[in-house]
Amino acid sequence: MSLKGASSAKPARLVALRGGASNARVEGSVVLVGAGPGDPDLLTIKALKALQAADVIVHDGLVSAEILDLAPAKARRIDVAKRKSRHTLPQDDINGLLVALAQDGLSVVRLKGGDPFIFGRGGEELEACRAAGVDCTVIPGVTAALAAGASSGAPLTHRGAAQAVTFVTGHAAHGEPDLDWPALARPNHTVVIYMGLSTAGLIAGRLMDAGRASATPALVVVNASRADEQRITTTLSDLAEVAAGLSGPALLMVGEAMALAQAGGADLALDILTNRSALA
Ligand SMILES: C[S@@+](CC[C@H](N)C(=O)[O-])C[C@H]1O[C@@H](n2cnc3c(N)ncnc32)[C@H](O)[C@@H]1O
Repeated sequence: MSLKGASSAKPARLVALRGGASNARVEGSVVLVGAGPGDPDLLTIKALKALQAADVIVHDGLVSAEILDLAPAKARRIDVAKRKSRHTLPQDDINGLLVALAQDGLSVVRLKGGDPFIFGRGGEELEACRAAGVDCTVIPGVTAALAAGASSGAPLTHRGAAQAVTFVTGHAAHGEPDLDWPALARPNHTVVIYMGLSTAGLIAGRLMDAGRASATPALVVVNASRADEQRITTTLSDLAEVAAGLSGPALLMVGEAMALAQAGGADLALDILTNRSALA
């Protein structure tokens, strides 16, 4: 990934003419806005202000309808992850779209689930804007891990049980993620795995092979902070089995502090727990 755009001289900007007496030239801009994990009440006031000032909102599939509804009706909405048709705009095209809209003189809000800089590809969009000489700023959002820890009552760090927390991805474009398994297997350490439902078995296996105890408490949270949130408590050795029955945006959380987590949420989680105890 190139970081050269950050220091190179800015090319001349294209700016639009807006109506009005002065016909003033208006420069557009891009704001990368973290929409948080789903609950509109977890949106920051700064994010809300940016939404309300937007000409156009470019959003991805994890942004809830309630949050999009906070934008003015006149603001154009562009969904770059139409999940029903399984069509997602390639990242280069999204970068190009943001730049082109800003160069048309528009105030562009790029609205992303959680935080733009946590597994959100916000850095690539920032670089593209910088390389094109487009003004780009970032408004942080509540990342899914923070919401999942809060709603389940499981602190990500906890004196005596979690001296560190690490966010990792369970997804890699080609094969398994390149992670430092011995470091992640150290006790008293919370590991939060984003995008890990389909690789839960592999991840749990790697952690146990590297020495993490199979009885280490684990938690899976689906749709954190949303009305249909599900929280399932388990152990590292049973993580793959629990994950296999779930779908939707989910976090796997492994660590001693997850012993404090309270299971619950939507019916599916309760069904899984009931079925598991019935089978025991
Ligand atoms: C591309 S990453 C985006 C992460 C986002 N930028 C953030 O800070 O939360 C998508 C993954 O984030 C996690 N995720 C996002 N929203 C979630 C939610 N409400 N509940 C559980 N996991 C969520 C899931 O692991 C999902 O597969």
